[in-house]
Amino acid sequence: MTDQYAVLGNPISHSKSPLIHKLFSEQTGQDMTYTAICVPLDGFLLSLADLHAQGFKGMNVTVPFKFEAFAACEQVSERAQLAGAVNTLIRTDTGWTGDNTDGAGLVADLIRLVGDLAGKRVLMLGAGGAASGVVKPLLDAKVDQLTIANRTPEKAAELAQRAQHLRVNGCGYDVVPNQPYDIVINATAASLAGDLPPLKAGWFADSHCLAYDMMYSKEPTVFMQAAQGFGAQQTADGLGMLVEQAAEAFYLWRGIKPETTELLIHLKKTLG
Ligand code: ATR
Repeated sequence: MTDQYAVLGNPISHSKSPLIHKLFSEQTGQDMTYTAICVPLDGFLLSLADLHAQGFKGMNVTVPFKFEAFAACEQVSERAQLAGAVNTLIRTDTGWTGDNTDGAGLVADLIRLVGDLAGKRVLMLGAGGAASGVVKPLLDAKVDQLTIANRTPEKAAELAQRAQHLRVNGCGYDVVPNQPYDIVINATAASLAGDLPPLKAGWFADSHCLAYDMMYSKEPTVFMQAAQGFGAQQTADGLGMLVEQAAEAFYLWRGIKPETTELLIHLKKTLG
């Protein structure tokens, strides 16, 4: 029987994951299906049990179920443990093992855009679920300094403290110095509502500054537009991160790492 996979979320109709995994499976010749399933907000555990009974081999999990998925797993990887969230489920005989490929996806995409991350000064805006999954992978990639700024400063401070690393600090937006960073990452949910955290022009002043929005949209996001207005030379949305986290999940399930560079170019053309 063809192996079955799915992405679970609510809402989910916008998801690009089925298309990405279809392209991966064609590229690597894997016999599998991958569908998007909209799960009722109060029905995540029930759906997981049902999909296990149906024989599903693996799942991606997206908003708002990543924390519930974490709690539902029999065991989780170290990176999922550190993120406190799970975006990839791998079938066991009796349930699911959890992993989190978001951080690896972000790091892979940043490396594609700017090369080696060692020594880079990074400012991350936001301290919610999206931000928490990427702190450890950024530190593992040897960024020189990671400042986490958040509307609720205590959450940024807590996230920084959890990282237990000298090069990380967390604070409110007002106390972030108006100085250049190599990479500014928008990990807030603000752009979902077309909103922005309070940005400072000086953050984007370096000629090589990359302004990266974890969100994906057809048009440049409000964050990308604002950063450009402040002089950022390079901006990117989260489509590359989406493709890279999917490639890492695909590898966990199938043991094959798909090619992503050409695929991303193709996808941008198709979606644009
Ligand atoms: P996600 O899983 O998308 O990260 P989340 O865990 O609810 O969602 O976190 C949302 C993040 O976006 C938080 O950092 C939130 O700031 P607070 O912790 O202060 O709530 C941030 N956020 C959401 N709307 C925002 C806005 N309009 N301006 C600035 N930050 C915003």
